[in-house]
Amino acid sequence: MTVQTEPMRVSTDVLVIGTGGAGLRAAIELDSRGQRVLLLGKRPKADAHTVLAAGGINAALGTLDPQDTWQIHAADTLKEGRYLGDAEAVELLCREAPNAIAELVEYGVPFACEADGRLSQRYFGAHRYRRTCFVGDYTGQAIIEGLVREVDRRQIPIMERVYVTDLLTAEGRVNGALGFQLEDGQEVIIHAGAVILAAGGHIHIYQRSSSRRRENTGDGMTLAFSVGASLADMELVQFHPSGMVWPTELEGTLVTEAVRGEGGRLLNSAGERFMARYDAERMELSTRDRVALANYTEIMAGRGTQHGGVWLDVSHLPAEVIHSRLPRMYAQFAAVGVDITKEPMEIAPTAHYSMGGLRVTPRTHATEVPGLYAAGEVTAGVHGANRLGGNSLAEILIFGRIAGEHAHEYAKTQPVLPLDESLIAAKRAALAQLRTLDGATQRELIAALQWAVWQGVGVVRTAEDLEHALRRLAEIRAQAEASETGYGDLPAALDLRSMLLTAEATVRSALLRTESRGAHQRADYPETDPAWQRSIVVLPQRTAAGTNTGMSLTTAELPEPSAEVAAALDEAEFEVAGRLLE
Ligand code: FUM
Repeated sequence: MTVQTEPMRVSTDVLVIGTGGAGLRAAIELDSRGQRVLLLGKRPKADAHTVLAAGGINAALGTLDPQDTWQIHAADTLKEGRYLGDAEAVELLCREAPNAIAELVEYGVPFACEADGRLSQRYFGAHRYRRTCFVGDYTGQAIIEGLVREVDRRQIPIMERVYVTDLLTAEGRVNGALGFQLEDGQEVIIHAGAVILAAGGHIHIYQRSSSRRRENTGDGMTLAFSVGASLADMELVQFHPSGMVWPTELEGTLVTEAVRGEGGRLLNSAGERFMARYDAERMELSTRDRVALANYTEIMAGRGTQHGGVWLDVSHLPAEVIHSRLPRMYAQFAAVGVDITKEPMEIAPTAHYSMGGLRVTPRTHATEVPGLYAAGEVTAGVHGANRLGGNSLAEILIFGRIAGEHAHEYAKTQPVLPLDESLIAAKRAALAQLRTLDGATQRELIAALQWAVWQGVGVVRTAEDLEHALRRLAEIRAQAEASETGYGDLPAALDLRSMLLTAEATVRSALLRTESRGAHQRADYPETDPAWQRSIVVLPQRTAAGTNTGMSLTTAELPEPSAEVAAALDEAEFEVAGRLLE
C-alpha cells in the first residue's frame, strides 16, 4: 500500500460515516434540509451490510390483520425484548414505522402486494400479527437500492472504500474524522460541523456470524468510545437461530427467518419436530432467543446433524411458494447442491445482531459527545434482550432520519471549530506505527479473539467461561501490542483494535449481568431477576488529558412505557395466559 505524504482534505457541514440504510437515510434528511453532507463508507456503494437483511421490515399497517396498531407493535417489541428496550425509543420506532414504509414506496421499493394492491405482510417470529412487509427474501437489498437511487438523484457525494480510523475533536466537540482509502492507503481528513455514525455493529467478534469478512467489527462503537461516548447493553448479542453450517466458507451465513415465517419446520436428527418441547404454542414462530436456544440445546444434547446443526425443512411447501417467497434461499442452497424444495437445510445458531451499542438520546440520537450523532446497529436502545425480526430495517430508517434532523440543527447553530492539527499529527503517527505491524499476525490474533468470544460469551454463558475469555482477550491484547513489524495490513490491525475493545465490553457486561434474560443465558444464573431490569453501561475511563485508559461499568434505569403501550402490554399478558389455559 503506497501512502501519499500529504492527506487529502475535504470539508462538509455534516459527515455521515456508513452507507447502509441508516447512513443513507440520514444523508437524505440532511440534503432535504439544505445542508451539505458527505457520505463515507468502508464498502462499495450499495453493498453495505443492510443488503444482507432478508426477510422484511415491520410496521403496523394492519393490511391482513386490521386489529394491529402501533401500540401493539410497541408492546410486542418491549415484551419480547424482555423489558430491556428503552420504551421511548420503542414507541418512536413503532409510531413512525408506517411513515418509513410510505417513504420507501416513494423511493420505488417494490414491496410484495396483495391482489388488491395493498402491501402484503408476513408473519415473523413472536409478532402478534402479520406486520412484516417484504420484497421476496431480499428486502434489505431492495431498500438499499431504493435509498441509493434517491441519494444519486439528489447528487449527494459518496466516498466509497474509506476506512475511518479516528474521530477528530476540538474543545471536547467532534469536528471531523481521519481515515484512509482502502485501495491506495491515501489518508483523508474530513472537517465537519457534525458527524453521524452509522457504521454497524460488532458481531464479527464471534467466530460464527452472519456478517461478511471485515464487516461489523465494532469500529463505529470504538471510534465513539475513544472520544468519550459510552456503550450500553453490550452483552445483549442476538444469535439468529439459523445460519448455514457448511461449507466452511459459508458458515454462519443467514438463513432468513422468513423460512419459518412461510411455514418452515425444525427437526432434529431423529426427525422430531422439537420446538413442541420448547414453545408448543408458537412452535417455529417462537422468539429468536427461544428458537436459538432450542437449536443449541438439541445440538449440545447430541441430537444434531453430522455438521453440528439441526434441520430446517420447507420441502412440504409447494415449490412455487419457495420460488416466489424465498428465491434467495433457494439460490443460496442450490449453489451448494441442496434443493430446498426437496431436501432440508442444515442450520445452527449464528451471531447476528448487536442489540447493544452506543448510548443515544432516543428523541435526537445524539451521543454524549457534542457534535456526534449515531443511528442503526451501532446504537443501543430499541431491541432490549431479544430483537424482533424485521425491527432493524425499520430502526435504521427512522433513527437515520432523526439523527439527520438533529445533526442538522446542531451544525446549523454551532460554529465549526478549526481542526486541531497537533491531534491530527499524533493520530497519523499512531497510524504509521500500525501500518508496519505484521499483517499475518494481526489476522491470526483476530481468529484467536473470535474463537475466544464464541467459546466464552456464546449462546449459553457461565462465569468460568467468561473469565477465561477475559484472560484470553488480555493475552491477545498483549500479543497485539508486542507485534513484530512485517508486511502490514492496516485494516486488520484496526479491526483487531476495535474487536478487542468491543469484545471486552461484551464479556465484562455479560459477567456483570447475573441472570438469564432473552439472548443472555447464564447457565449459572438460569432465572430472570426482576432487579436486573436495568441497562448495563460501559463508560470510557479517561485521564484529565482525555486519553482513554480502559472501561468501567455501571447500570442505568429504563424509562416506563406510556399508558397506552402499558395497556397493550397488559392485553398481551392476558392473551398469552388465556391461550396457555385453554
Ligand atoms: O431472518 C431474517 O430475515 C433477518 C431479519 C432481521 O434480522 O431483521
